[in-house]
Amino acid sequence: MSDPLLADLSEFLRIPSISTLPDHADQCRRAADWLLTRFRKLGCPVVELLEGKGHPVVWAESPRIEGKPTVLCYGHYDVQPVDPLDEWVSPPFEPMVRDGKLYARGAVDDKGQVFTLLKAYESVLDAKGRPPLNVHFIIEGEEECGGKVIFDLLAKEPERTMVDAVVVADMGYFAPRMPAVYTGLRGICYAEIHLRTLERDLHSGTYGGVAPNAIETMVRLLADLKSRSGRINIPRIYKSVVPPVKAERKAWKKLPFKKQKFLKEEVTGRALTGLKEFSVLERTWALPTFEIHGIRGGFTGDGAKTVIPAQAVAKVSLRLVPGHSYEKVGKWLTRAVKKLAPSYADVDVKLLHGGDPVLCDVTDPAFQVLDRAFEEVVGRRTVPVRAGGSIPVVPALKRGGAPVLLTGIGLPDDGLHSPNEKVNVQQIHDGIAVFGKFFEQFAQRR
Ligand code: BES
Ligand code: MN
Ligand code: MN
Repeated sequence: MSDPLLADLSEFLRIPSISTLPDHADQCRRAADWLLTRFRKLGCPVVELLEGKGHPVVWAESPRIEGKPTVLCYGHYDVQPVDPLDEWVSPPFEPMVRDGKLYARGAVDDKGQVFTLLKAYESVLDAKGRPPLNVHFIIEGEEECGGKVIFDLLAKEPERTMVDAVVVADMGYFAPRMPAVYTGLRGICYAEIHLRTLERDLHSGTYGGVAPNAIETMVRLLADLKSRSGRINIPRIYKSVVPPVKAERKAWKKLPFKKQKFLKEEVTGRALTGLKEFSVLERTWALPTFEIHGIRGGFTGDGAKTVIPAQAVAKVSLRLVPGHSYEKVGKWLTRAVKKLAPSYADVDVKLLHGGDPVLCDVTDPAFQVLDRAFEEVVGRRTVPVRAGGSIPVVPALKRGGAPVLLTGIGLPDDGLHSPNEKVNVQQIHDGIAVFGKFFEQFAQRR
Protein backbone atom coordinates (compact mmCIF):
# COMPACT_ATOMS: atom_id res chain seq x y z
CA MET A 1 0.00 0.00 0.00
CA SER A 2 1.60 3.25 -1.12
CA ASP A 3 -0.22 5.66 1.22
CA PRO A 4 1.65 5.40 4.56
CA LEU A 5 -1.53 6.24 6.46
CA LEU A 6 -3.35 3.29 4.95
CA ALA A 7 -0.34 1.03 5.37
CA ASP A 8 -0.42 1.94 9.03
CA LEU A 9 -4.14 1.21 9.40
CA SER A 10 -3.69 -2.02 7.44
CA GLU A 11 -1.28 -3.29 10.08
CA PHE A 12 -4.15 -3.08 12.59
CA LEU A 13 -6.66 -4.55 10.13
CA ARG A 14 -4.45 -7.56 9.44
CA ILE A 15 -4.94 -8.84 12.97
CA PRO A 16 -7.91 -11.26 12.95
CA SER A 17 -9.35 -10.17 16.31
CA ILE A 18 -12.67 -12.00 16.06
CA SER A 19 -13.87 -11.80 19.64
CA THR A 20 -16.60 -14.41 19.51
CA LEU A 21 -14.28 -17.25 18.39
CA PRO A 22 -12.46 -18.73 21.40
CA ASP A 23 -9.44 -19.78 19.35
CA HIS A 24 -8.90 -16.15 18.29
CA ALA A 25 -8.33 -14.94 21.87
CA ASP A 26 -4.60 -14.48 21.25
CA GLN A 27 -5.39 -12.43 18.14
CA CYS A 28 -7.61 -10.16 20.23
CA ARG A 29 -4.67 -9.70 22.56
CA ARG A 30 -2.43 -8.87 19.59
CA ALA A 31 -4.87 -6.15 18.52
CA ALA A 32 -4.90 -4.78 22.07
CA ASP A 33 -1.08 -4.84 22.10
CA TRP A 34 -0.97 -3.00 18.79
CA LEU A 35 -2.99 -0.23 20.44
CA LEU A 36 -0.79 -0.20 23.54
CA THR A 37 2.29 0.31 21.37
CA ARG A 38 0.52 3.13 19.53
CA PHE A 39 -0.54 4.96 22.66
CA ARG A 40 2.97 4.68 24.06
CA LYS A 41 4.41 6.05 20.82
CA LEU A 42 2.00 8.96 21.07
CA GLY A 43 3.49 9.78 24.46
CA CYS A 44 0.55 8.82 26.67
CA PRO A 45 1.86 8.57 30.24
CA VAL A 46 -0.91 6.15 31.23
CA VAL A 47 -1.32 3.12 28.96
CA GLU A 48 -2.95 0.04 30.46
CA LEU A 49 -4.51 -3.30 29.69
CA LEU A 50 -7.49 -3.67 31.99
CA GLU A 51 -8.12 -7.34 32.48
CA GLY A 52 -11.27 -9.24 33.29
CA LYS A 53 -12.94 -12.47 32.31
CA GLY A 54 -12.41 -12.12 28.56
CA HIS A 55 -10.58 -9.84 26.17
CA PRO A 56 -8.90 -6.87 27.83
CA VAL A 57 -9.90 -3.22 27.64
CA VAL A 58 -7.21 -0.82 26.43
CA TRP A 59 -7.05 2.36 28.48
CA ALA A 60 -4.83 5.36 27.70
CA GLU A 61 -4.54 8.90 28.99
CA SER A 62 -2.90 11.91 27.42
CA PRO A 63 -0.49 14.02 29.46
CA ARG A 64 -2.51 15.91 32.07
CA ILE A 65 -3.40 19.43 30.92
CA GLU A 66 -4.51 21.40 33.98
CA GLY A 67 -7.64 23.51 33.63
CA LYS A 68 -8.72 21.92 30.38
CA PRO A 69 -11.70 19.67 29.77
CA THR A 70 -11.46 15.89 29.36
CA VAL A 71 -12.84 13.92 26.43
CA LEU A 72 -13.25 10.15 26.69
CA CYS A 73 -13.00 8.37 23.33
CA TYR A 74 -14.65 4.97 22.95
CA GLY A 75 -14.14 2.34 20.26
CA HIS A 76 -13.62 -1.41 19.89
CA TYR A 77 -10.73 -3.41 18.46
CA ASP A 78 -12.67 -6.65 18.01
CA VAL A 79 -14.44 -7.64 14.80
CA GLN A 80 -17.20 -9.96 13.61
CA PRO A 81 -16.57 -13.39 12.04
CA VAL A 82 -15.89 -13.37 8.30
CA ASP A 83 -18.02 -16.15 6.90
CA PRO A 84 -19.12 -16.71 4.18
CA LEU A 85 -15.45 -16.45 3.28
CA ASP A 86 -15.84 -17.33 -0.40
CA GLU A 87 -17.87 -14.15 -0.97
CA TRP A 88 -14.93 -11.88 -0.20
CA VAL A 89 -13.29 -10.44 -3.31
CA SER A 90 -10.04 -10.07 -1.37
CA PRO A 91 -9.32 -11.94 1.90
CA PRO A 92 -10.85 -10.22 4.98
CA PHE A 93 -7.54 -9.84 6.80
CA GLU A 94 -5.50 -8.78 3.76
CA PRO A 95 -6.57 -5.15 3.44
CA MET A 96 -6.79 -3.94 -0.15
CA VAL A 97 -7.68 -0.63 -1.75
CA ARG A 98 -9.96 -0.72 -4.77
CA ASP A 99 -11.50 2.37 -6.27
CA GLY A 100 -10.83 4.60 -3.25
CA LYS A 101 -12.18 2.08 -0.78
CA LEU A 102 -10.24 0.04 1.73
CA TYR A 103 -11.64 -3.49 2.04
CA ALA A 104 -11.10 -5.57 5.19
CA ARG A 105 -13.00 -6.93 8.16
CA GLY A 106 -13.02 -4.08 10.68
CA ALA A 107 -12.30 -1.42 8.05
CA VAL A 108 -15.20 0.66 9.33
CA ASP A 109 -16.44 -1.41 12.33
CA ASP A 110 -14.51 -0.36 14.22
CA LYS A 111 -10.75 -0.42 13.69
CA GLY A 112 -10.82 2.20 10.94
CA GLN A 113 -12.73 4.54 13.21
CA VAL A 114 -10.49 3.89 16.23
CA PHE A 115 -7.61 4.73 13.90
CA THR A 116 -9.17 8.11 13.02
CA LEU A 117 -9.31 8.93 16.75
CA LEU A 118 -5.63 8.02 17.18
CA LYS A 119 -4.55 10.06 14.19
CA ALA A 120 -6.74 12.98 15.19
CA TYR A 121 -5.14 12.95 18.62
CA GLU A 122 -1.68 12.81 17.06
CA SER A 123 -2.55 15.75 14.81
CA VAL A 124 -3.31 18.08 17.73
CA LEU A 125 -0.14 17.39 19.73
CA ASP A 126 2.26 20.31 20.06
CA ALA A 127 6.05 20.10 19.63
CA LYS A 128 6.36 18.75 23.18
CA GLY A 129 3.77 16.05 22.56
CA ARG A 130 1.09 17.82 24.60
CA PRO A 131 -2.53 17.98 23.45
CA PRO A 132 -4.73 21.07 23.92
CA LEU A 133 -7.04 19.18 26.30
CA ASN A 134 -7.19 15.92 28.22
CA VAL A 135 -8.03 12.91 26.11
CA HIS A 136 -8.72 9.47 27.55
CA PHE A 137 -9.23 6.37 25.44
CA ILE A 138 -11.27 3.29 26.28
CA ILE A 139 -11.06 0.68 23.52
CA GLU A 140 -12.75 -2.62 24.27
CA GLY A 141 -12.36 -6.05 22.70
CA GLU A 142 -15.77 -7.60 23.28
CA GLU A 143 -18.27 -5.24 21.67
CA GLU A 144 -19.16 -7.74 18.98
CA CYS A 145 -19.60 -10.72 21.29
CA GLY A 146 -21.42 -9.27 24.26
CA GLY A 147 -18.54 -9.65 26.72
CA LYS A 148 -18.59 -8.32 30.24
CA VAL A 149 -15.08 -6.99 30.86
CA ILE A 150 -15.91 -3.34 30.15
CA PHE A 151 -19.17 -3.58 32.13
CA ASP A 152 -17.46 -4.93 35.20
CA LEU A 153 -14.76 -2.30 34.84
CA LEU A 154 -17.17 0.63 34.65
CA ALA A 155 -19.37 -0.77 37.42
CA LYS A 156 -16.31 -0.88 39.69
CA GLU A 157 -14.73 2.35 38.49
CA PRO A 158 -17.51 4.67 37.29
CA GLU A 159 -15.21 7.68 37.72
CA ARG A 160 -13.63 6.76 34.38
CA THR A 161 -16.76 8.10 32.69
CA MET A 162 -16.94 11.30 34.74
CA VAL A 163 -15.55 13.51 32.00
CA ASP A 164 -16.76 16.49 29.98
CA ALA A 165 -17.75 14.57 26.87
CA VAL A 166 -17.68 11.02 25.54
CA VAL A 167 -17.05 10.47 21.84
CA VAL A 168 -18.21 7.13 20.46
CA ALA A 169 -16.77 6.67 16.97
CA ASP A 170 -18.59 3.52 15.92
CA MET A 171 -21.37 4.80 13.68
CA GLY A 172 -21.87 6.28 10.27
CA TYR A 173 -23.29 9.09 8.15
CA PHE A 174 -26.99 8.93 7.36
CA ALA A 175 -26.09 9.29 3.69
CA PRO A 176 -23.00 10.35 1.73
CA ARG A 177 -22.13 13.94 2.77
CA MET A 178 -24.67 13.71 5.60
CA PRO A 179 -22.85 13.24 8.91
CA ALA A 180 -25.02 12.15 11.82
CA VAL A 181 -25.33 12.14 15.58
CA TYR A 182 -27.42 9.43 17.13
CA THR A 183 -30.25 10.14 19.54
CA GLY A 184 -30.89 6.48 20.18
CA LEU A 185 -29.56 2.95 19.90
CA ARG A 186 -31.56 -0.22 20.14
CA GLY A 187 -30.75 -2.74 22.83
CA ILE A 188 -30.43 -6.45 22.28
CA CYS A 189 -31.31 -9.76 23.89
CA TYR A 190 -29.38 -12.64 22.32
CA ALA A 191 -30.40 -16.20 23.13
CA GLU A 192 -30.13 -19.84 22.16
CA ILE A 193 -33.19 -22.06 22.18
CA HIS A 194 -32.31 -25.70 22.86
CA LEU A 195 -34.99 -28.22 22.01
CA ARG A 196 -35.11 -32.00 22.36
CA THR A 197 -37.87 -34.41 21.37
CA LEU A 198 -36.10 -37.80 21.47
CA GLU A 199 -33.27 -39.50 23.26
CA ARG A 200 -31.46 -40.15 19.96
CA ASP A 201 -31.80 -39.62 16.22
CA LEU A 202 -34.03 -42.21 14.54
CA HIS A 203 -34.49 -43.89 11.16
CA SER A 204 -36.92 -41.65 9.30
CA GLY A 205 -38.59 -44.57 7.52
CA THR A 206 -39.09 -46.89 10.44
CA TYR A 207 -40.33 -44.13 12.73
CA GLY A 208 -41.43 -41.47 10.24
CA GLY A 209 -45.09 -40.62 10.73
CA VAL A 210 -45.03 -41.03 14.50
CA ALA A 211 -41.78 -39.78 16.04
CA PRO A 212 -41.61 -36.04 16.94
CA ASN A 213 -38.98 -34.31 14.81
CA ALA A 214 -36.94 -31.77 16.80
CA ILE A 215 -36.21 -29.50 13.84
CA GLU A 216 -39.84 -29.48 12.76
CA THR A 217 -40.85 -28.68 16.32
CA MET A 218 -38.24 -25.92 16.41
CA VAL A 219 -39.29 -24.26 13.17
CA ARG A 220 -42.95 -24.31 14.19
CA LEU A 221 -42.02 -22.77 17.51
CA LEU A 222 -39.95 -20.09 15.77
CA ALA A 223 -42.75 -19.40 13.30
CA ASP A 224 -45.15 -19.02 16.22
CA LEU A 225 -42.90 -16.35 17.74
CA LYS A 226 -43.50 -13.98 14.80
CA SER A 227 -46.51 -13.75 12.55
CA ARG A 228 -46.36 -13.41 8.77
CA SER A 229 -47.16 -9.71 9.09
CA GLY A 230 -44.00 -9.28 11.20
CA ARG A 231 -45.69 -9.01 14.58
CA ILE A 232 -43.70 -10.55 17.43
CA ASN A 233 -45.83 -12.89 19.50
CA ILE A 234 -44.39 -12.17 22.93
CA PRO A 235 -46.82 -10.65 25.44
CA ARG A 236 -46.05 -7.03 26.43
CA ILE A 237 -43.30 -6.58 23.84
CA TYR A 238 -45.27 -3.83 22.02
CA LYS A 239 -47.34 -2.48 24.92
CA SER A 240 -44.14 -1.58 26.77
CA VAL A 241 -42.63 0.41 23.87
CA VAL A 242 -42.15 4.13 24.46
CA PRO A 243 -42.68 5.49 20.94
CA PRO A 244 -40.68 8.40 19.54
CA VAL A 245 -42.28 11.77 20.20
CA LYS A 246 -44.13 13.49 17.39
CA ALA A 247 -41.35 15.99 16.69
CA GLU A 248 -38.82 13.20 16.28
CA ARG A 249 -41.06 11.23 13.95
CA LYS A 250 -41.69 14.40 11.93
CA ALA A 251 -37.94 15.03 11.64
CA TRP A 252 -37.44 11.47 10.33
CA LYS A 253 -39.99 12.13 7.59
CA LYS A 254 -37.79 14.97 6.35
CA LEU A 255 -34.68 12.80 6.04
CA PRO A 256 -33.75 11.96 2.45
CA PHE A 257 -34.70 8.32 2.64
CA LYS A 258 -35.43 6.48 -0.61
CA LYS A 259 -37.13 3.20 0.07
CA GLN A 260 -36.46 1.64 -3.34
CA LYS A 261 -32.80 2.63 -3.31
CA PHE A 262 -32.48 1.29 0.24
CA LEU A 263 -34.06 -2.00 -0.82
CA LYS A 264 -31.89 -2.41 -3.89
CA GLU A 265 -28.52 -1.09 -2.75
CA GLU A 266 -28.39 -1.85 0.97
CA VAL A 267 -30.88 -4.59 1.69
CA THR A 268 -30.21 -6.24 -1.71
CA GLY A 269 -33.46 -8.19 -1.56
CA ARG A 270 -36.65 -8.06 -3.61
CA ALA A 271 -39.00 -6.86 -0.88
CA LEU A 272 -39.01 -5.27 2.54
CA THR A 273 -40.72 -7.25 5.26
CA GLY A 274 -42.15 -6.29 8.62
CA LEU A 275 -45.00 -4.23 9.98
CA LYS A 276 -46.34 -2.36 6.98
CA GLU A 277 -48.21 0.19 9.08
CA PHE A 278 -44.90 1.69 10.26
CA SER A 279 -42.30 3.48 8.17
CA VAL A 280 -38.99 1.75 7.42
CA LEU A 281 -37.12 4.12 9.73
CA GLU A 282 -39.55 3.42 12.56
CA ARG A 283 -39.24 -0.30 11.97
CA THR A 284 -35.45 -0.19 12.09
CA TRP A 285 -35.01 2.45 14.81
CA ALA A 286 -37.98 2.45 17.15
CA LEU A 287 -39.59 -0.99 17.12
CA PRO A 288 -38.44 -4.35 18.47
CA THR A 289 -37.33 -7.15 16.16
CA PHE A 290 -37.10 -10.89 16.39
CA GLU A 291 -34.45 -12.49 14.17
CA ILE A 292 -33.29 -16.07 13.70
CA HIS A 293 -29.53 -16.17 13.17
CA GLY A 294 -28.98 -19.87 12.72
CA ILE A 295 -30.44 -23.29 13.28
CA ARG A 296 -28.34 -26.32 14.13
CA GLY A 297 -29.46 -29.93 14.20
CA GLY A 298 -30.03 -33.03 12.09
CA PHE A 299 -27.84 -33.72 9.11
CA THR A 300 -26.38 -30.81 7.15
CA GLY A 301 -23.32 -32.42 5.55
CA ASP A 302 -22.91 -33.32 1.88
CA GLY A 303 -25.08 -36.13 0.58
CA ALA A 304 -28.23 -37.55 2.13
CA LYS A 305 -28.96 -39.12 5.47
CA THR A 306 -32.48 -40.26 6.38
CA VAL A 307 -32.80 -39.32 9.98
CA ILE A 308 -35.32 -37.83 12.38
CA PRO A 309 -33.32 -35.39 14.49
CA ALA A 310 -33.65 -35.68 18.24
CA GLN A 311 -32.49 -32.16 18.97
CA ALA A 312 -32.22 -28.70 17.51
CA VAL A 313 -30.67 -25.39 18.54
CA ALA A 314 -31.68 -21.97 17.26
CA LYS A 315 -29.73 -18.77 17.77
CA VAL A 316 -32.11 -15.82 17.97
CA SER A 317 -32.15 -12.22 19.08
CA LEU A 318 -34.56 -9.45 19.82
CA ARG A 319 -33.68 -5.80 19.30
CA LEU A 320 -35.01 -3.66 22.10
CA VAL A 321 -36.28 -0.10 22.14
CA PRO A 322 -37.01 2.47 24.84
CA GLY A 323 -39.38 0.93 27.36
CA HIS A 324 -37.58 -2.41 27.21
CA SER A 325 -34.72 -3.78 29.26
CA TYR A 326 -32.58 -6.80 28.52
CA GLU A 327 -33.51 -8.35 31.80
CA LYS A 328 -37.27 -8.01 31.30
CA VAL A 329 -37.31 -9.11 27.67
CA GLY A 330 -35.11 -12.10 28.44
CA LYS A 331 -37.74 -13.29 30.91
CA TRP A 332 -40.59 -12.62 28.49
CA LEU A 333 -38.86 -14.55 25.70
CA THR A 334 -38.15 -17.51 27.98
CA ARG A 335 -41.76 -17.58 29.13
CA ALA A 336 -43.12 -17.32 25.58
CA VAL A 337 -40.90 -20.13 24.30
CA LYS A 338 -41.90 -22.46 27.13
CA LYS A 339 -45.54 -21.69 26.53
CA LEU A 340 -45.41 -22.22 22.76
CA ALA A 341 -43.42 -25.46 22.86
CA PRO A 342 -45.47 -28.66 22.73
CA SER A 343 -45.49 -30.80 25.86
CA TYR A 344 -43.47 -33.57 24.17
CA ALA A 345 -40.48 -31.27 23.72
CA ASP A 346 -37.92 -30.24 26.32
CA VAL A 347 -36.94 -26.63 25.71
CA ASP A 348 -34.36 -24.49 27.34
CA VAL A 349 -33.63 -20.83 26.66
CA LYS A 350 -30.03 -19.79 27.26
CA LEU A 351 -29.57 -16.02 27.37
CA LEU A 352 -26.12 -15.41 25.88
CA HIS A 353 -25.81 -11.65 26.19
CA GLY A 354 -27.72 -8.43 26.04
CA GLY A 355 -27.74 -4.68 26.30
CA ASP A 356 -30.31 -2.07 27.14
CA PRO A 357 -31.60 0.48 24.63
CA VAL A 358 -30.51 4.11 25.04
CA LEU A 359 -31.73 7.54 24.19
CA CYS A 360 -29.19 10.37 24.00
CA ASP A 361 -30.04 14.00 24.40
CA VAL A 362 -28.13 15.93 21.73
CA THR A 363 -28.65 19.48 23.01
CA ASP A 364 -25.46 19.80 25.08
CA PRO A 365 -23.06 22.47 23.70
CA ALA A 366 -20.57 19.68 22.94
CA PHE A 367 -22.78 18.76 19.98
CA GLN A 368 -22.36 22.25 18.54
CA VAL A 369 -18.61 21.79 18.69
CA LEU A 370 -18.95 18.53 16.77
CA ASP A 371 -21.27 20.23 14.29
CA ARG A 372 -18.79 22.99 13.66
CA ALA A 373 -16.03 20.43 13.12
CA PHE A 374 -18.10 18.56 10.54
CA GLU A 375 -19.12 21.82 8.91
CA GLU A 376 -15.52 22.94 8.51
CA VAL A 377 -14.40 19.61 7.08
CA VAL A 378 -17.32 18.31 5.02
CA GLY A 379 -19.41 21.46 4.72
CA ARG A 380 -22.38 19.97 6.57
CA ARG A 381 -23.70 19.87 10.11
CA THR A 382 -24.85 16.60 11.61
CA VAL A 383 -28.40 15.36 11.36
CA PRO A 384 -29.96 13.68 14.38
CA VAL A 385 -30.93 10.08 13.65
CA ARG A 386 -31.19 6.79 15.53
CA ALA A 387 -29.47 3.47 14.91
CA GLY A 388 -31.05 0.08 14.62
CA GLY A 389 -27.84 -1.49 15.90
CA SER A 390 -26.61 -1.72 19.45
CA ILE A 391 -23.53 -0.82 21.47
CA PRO A 392 -24.19 -2.50 24.79
CA VAL A 393 -21.78 -0.38 26.84
CA VAL A 394 -23.32 2.99 25.93
CA PRO A 395 -25.76 3.07 28.89
CA ALA A 396 -22.74 2.60 31.17
CA LEU A 397 -20.83 5.38 29.38
CA LYS A 398 -23.81 7.68 29.97
CA ARG A 399 -23.84 7.01 33.70
CA GLY A 400 -21.02 9.50 34.38
CA GLY A 401 -23.37 12.28 33.33
CA ALA A 402 -21.29 13.57 30.40
CA PRO A 403 -22.91 14.08 26.99
CA VAL A 404 -22.32 11.00 24.82
CA LEU A 405 -21.65 11.88 21.18
CA LEU A 406 -22.52 8.87 19.06
CA THR A 407 -21.05 9.56 15.66
CA GLY A 408 -18.64 8.27 13.07
CA ILE A 409 -17.48 8.20 9.51
CA GLY A 410 -19.11 5.09 8.08
CA LEU A 411 -21.32 5.15 4.99
CA PRO A 412 -24.55 3.25 4.49
CA ASP A 413 -23.03 0.86 1.94
CA ASP A 414 -19.96 -0.11 4.02
CA GLY A 415 -21.31 -3.58 4.67
CA LEU A 416 -20.52 -3.93 8.35
CA HIS A 417 -20.71 -7.57 9.44
CA SER A 418 -21.04 -8.56 5.75
CA PRO A 419 -18.50 -9.93 3.28
CA ASN A 420 -16.42 -7.18 1.64
CA GLU A 421 -16.72 -4.70 4.49
CA LYS A 422 -15.03 -1.46 3.44
CA VAL A 423 -14.34 2.10 4.38
CA ASN A 424 -14.00 4.94 1.92
CA VAL A 425 -10.47 6.33 2.13
CA GLN A 426 -11.79 9.88 1.98
CA GLN A 427 -13.96 9.19 5.02
CA ILE A 428 -10.86 8.21 6.99
CA HIS A 429 -9.14 11.48 6.06
CA ASP A 430 -12.28 13.47 6.88
CA GLY A 431 -12.71 11.66 10.18
CA ILE A 432 -9.17 12.50 11.27
CA ALA A 433 -9.77 16.15 10.41
CA VAL A 434 -13.18 16.26 12.12
CA PHE A 435 -12.05 14.68 15.37
CA GLY A 436 -8.90 16.83 15.34
CA LYS A 437 -11.01 19.98 15.06
CA PHE A 438 -13.33 18.67 17.72
CA PHE A 439 -10.41 18.26 20.13
CA GLU A 440 -9.06 21.73 19.33
CA GLN A 441 -12.38 23.50 19.64
CA PHE A 442 -13.61 21.58 22.65
CA ALA A 443 -10.37 22.62 24.37
CA GLN A 444 -11.40 26.27 23.93
CA ARG A 445 -14.63 25.67 25.79
CA ARG A 446 -15.07 27.87 28.83
N1 BES B 1 -20.98 -0.43 15.33
C1 BES B 1 -22.01 -1.40 15.54
C2 BES B 1 -23.30 -0.79 15.99
C3 BES B 1 -23.93 0.12 14.97
C4 BES B 1 -24.35 -0.39 13.78
C5 BES B 1 -24.08 1.44 15.21
C6 BES B 1 -24.90 0.44 12.83
C7 BES B 1 -24.64 2.27 14.29
C8 BES B 1 -25.04 1.77 13.08
C9 BES B 1 -21.54 -2.39 16.58
O1 BES B 1 -20.22 -2.81 16.34
C10 BES B 1 -22.36 -3.64 16.50
O2 BES B 1 -22.39 -4.26 15.49
N2 BES B 1 -22.97 -4.01 17.61
C11 BES B 1 -23.58 -5.29 17.74
C12 BES B 1 -23.75 -5.53 19.21
C13 BES B 1 -24.15 -6.92 19.58
C14 BES B 1 -23.23 -7.97 19.02
C15 BES B 1 -24.25 -7.03 21.06
C16 BES B 1 -24.91 -5.30 17.02
O3 BES B 1 -25.59 -4.27 16.94
O4 BES B 1 -25.25 -6.36 16.50
MN1 MN C 1 -18.95 -1.31 16.00
MN1 MN D 1 -20.32 -4.38 14.73
